[in-house]
Amino acid sequence: MTRSPISIPHLTELKARGERIVMVTAYDYPTARIADDAGVDMVLVGDSGAQVVLGHDSTVAVTTDEMLVLAGAVRRGVRTAFVVCDLPFGSTEVSDAQAVATAVRFVKEAGADAVKLEGAGSARLSRIRAVVEAGIPVVAHIGLTPQTATALGGLRAQGRTAATAARIVDEALAVQDAGAFALVVEAVPAEVLAVVLPELRIPVIGIGAGPADGQVLVLHDLLGITPGRTAKFVKRYAAVGEAMAAGVAAYADEVRSGAFPAAAHTYAASAEAVDAARAALEGPE
Ligand code: KIV
Repeated sequence: MTRSPISIPHLTELKARGERIVMVTAYDYPTARIADDAGVDMVLVGDSGAQVVLGHDSTVAVTTDEMLVLAGAVRRGVRTAFVVCDLPFGSTEVSDAQAVATAVRFVKEAGADAVKLEGAGSARLSRIRAVVEAGIPVVAHIGLTPQTATALGGLRAQGRTAATAARIVDEALAVQDAGAFALVVEAVPAEVLAVVLPELRIPVIGIGAGPADGQVLVLHDLLGITPGRTAKFVKRYAAVGEAMAAGVAAYADEVRSGAFPAAAHTYAASAEAVDAARAALEGPE
């Protein structure tokens, strides 16, 4: 069955009906196609791509140009899902005008449906307002915001103390007021998110924040491709990394043993062509 492309009213409708929204990250064409064919509602070209596909140890290193390459590939793989692109660190910090110019690039050059902006301080709220004012839908992101994790004391859960729990509530309401049409809340106690959830008209997508209007996970984490330890909130749904390693090891074994390539993987030539090849080697008589 062909689905119609997912729109913002559709996402809001899902929230109103109490139907959970499914969001997943993707960073390239094949995985975007797989996610779209699996029927997810939203695909996020996350700056987590800095770590999971580019091998950096944090999200801050990825550039706008690199993110645009990933985003364009994802866009080409998605027919139905709503595509959101992260605005990377350094591409919005200078001014509202810089944030608008970056967001416009993601829409024009990569075909993004919306952009995601981390944080909810006064400058961040101003950026959200400016980008929304420019006609580009914004997903806000509060709680653990990896781009500024150093200032938050590391990659750790937020909202666990009285002061920070109150801040999460204030920030959720503030980004809604600033015009964000959806909100990602990362690594926040479920009880804290539950306090503010009934006050939010916009869909709230949780990651390590307990039940919400929807959930997001990093594709490589949920498929079991990410090497080493993952965050506490990750659930693994497959062992794709192990399957990939086994596939490459089997290929290496067959190349070394000569079992690959077999006749089925080679092209046939006429006897004439083989004779001509021999003659070319022997040279003119
Ligand atoms: O970059 C990313 O993948 C994200 C999600 C973890 C929400 O921001």
